[in-house]
Amino acid sequence: MIKAGIIGATGYAGGELVRILTGHKNVEIKWYGSRSYIDKKYAEVYQNMFQIVDDKCMDDNMEALADQVDVIFTATPQGLCASLVNEEILSKVKIIDLSADFRIKDVATYEAWYKIQHPTSQFIPEAVYGLCEINREAVKKARLVANPGCYPTCSTLSIYPLLKEGLIDPNTIIIDAKSGTSGAGRGAKVDNLYCEVNENIKAYGVANHRHTPEIEEQLSYAAGQPVLINFTPHLVPMNRGILITAYASLKKEVSYEEVKAAYDKYYAEEKFVRVLDKDVCPQTKWVEGSNYVDVNFKLDPRTRRVIMMGAMDNLVKGAAGQAVQNMNLMFGLKESEGLELVPMFP
Ligand SMILES: NC(=O)c1ccc[n+]([C@@H]2O[C@H](COP(=O)([O-])OP(=O)(O)OC[C@H]3O[C@@H](n4cnc5c(N)ncnc54)[C@H](OP(=O)(O)O)[C@@H]3O)[C@@H](O)[C@H]2O)c1
Repeated sequence: MIKAGIIGATGYAGGELVRILTGHKNVEIKWYGSRSYIDKKYAEVYQNMFQIVDDKCMDDNMEALADQVDVIFTATPQGLCASLVNEEILSKVKIIDLSADFRIKDVATYEAWYKIQHPTSQFIPEAVYGLCEINREAVKKARLVANPGCYPTCSTLSIYPLLKEGLIDPNTIIIDAKSGTSGAGRGAKVDNLYCEVNENIKAYGVANHRHTPEIEEQLSYAAGQPVLINFTPHLVPMNRGILITAYASLKKEVSYEEVKAAYDKYYAEEKFVRVLDKDVCPQTKWVEGSNYVDVNFKLDPRTRRVIMMGAMDNLVKGAAGQAVQNMNLMFGLKESEGLELVPMFP
């Protein structure tokens, strides 16, 4: 059995990790880390875990945790993992960080967008960006995985094949994104109150959302040149789910079959990326509670643009599910172990 510890087990992403790992036949959770609920029963924080999890919450002592487990997940605010990790810990355990601390290779870019001084930037070069479908081989050998952000996962997977195949002009990409409120975490915030969110839809982080440089970096690798994007997220009144609609100019005239072949080239063998049938638009309801990302596209010959679409559960493929997928790869397990979750509908 793989022994796992979760720092930030009481947040939404951490809670989802607990839900998924509880059903994973090769994993035993040894540490339910928290800041506010130390010594409180985990099932009192999340009553859905009543009679399923008996343990109490622990603190965020990564050094102590490293002596007891094989893998540590950090599902904590930006900067926390970077402030705790050190060489001794990394020599003992594998770390999968769900925050952005090790996602962006250029430390100055991270510090500028996150307004945090990176205390352990020496580990950034070795951290593997855990987008499993694209960096699978590197993930298998990693001791530190930077689990991708939710919007970046959905955006990159939806756009990647067309950039790789040189079908779109990299600097014409516009991403319009929508997310449910669990994307903002469990902490109380006025903007996330029922009355503020219900019956409402609003853009936020316009032209300055922190996921912008992360998406740009990943799309730049795909394009083989620097990519700048417009990225506009919206908050919508639902619990889970991300929908992205991305637009780009085509470099040449292409047929439906050519574009479909580009998606199939990268995803035909991928369990968790489903390229939908012609004219079927992805919906968040069709992936809810699962590790799937549904993608599709539509050509618009009138404007010579292509519209790329993706839907995903932000807490599963966008956070905990992808983290478990990374763990499976790092420990040589079947990649889909514990992740055979059928989407909930309705
Ligand atoms: N929510 C998503 O859809 C999503 C998707 C992808 C990535 N992420 C990333 O995952 C991380 C967690 O997000 P979340 O949405 O789960 O946030 P959240 O619901 O606010 O949870 C934050 C967690 O971190 C713990 N924590 C906060 N400060 C801490 C400290 N100083 N020391 C130890 N623990 C501390 C909290 O403990 P207490 O509960 O005890 O205060 C809680 O368990 C973030 O980096 C986020 O960007 C989230």
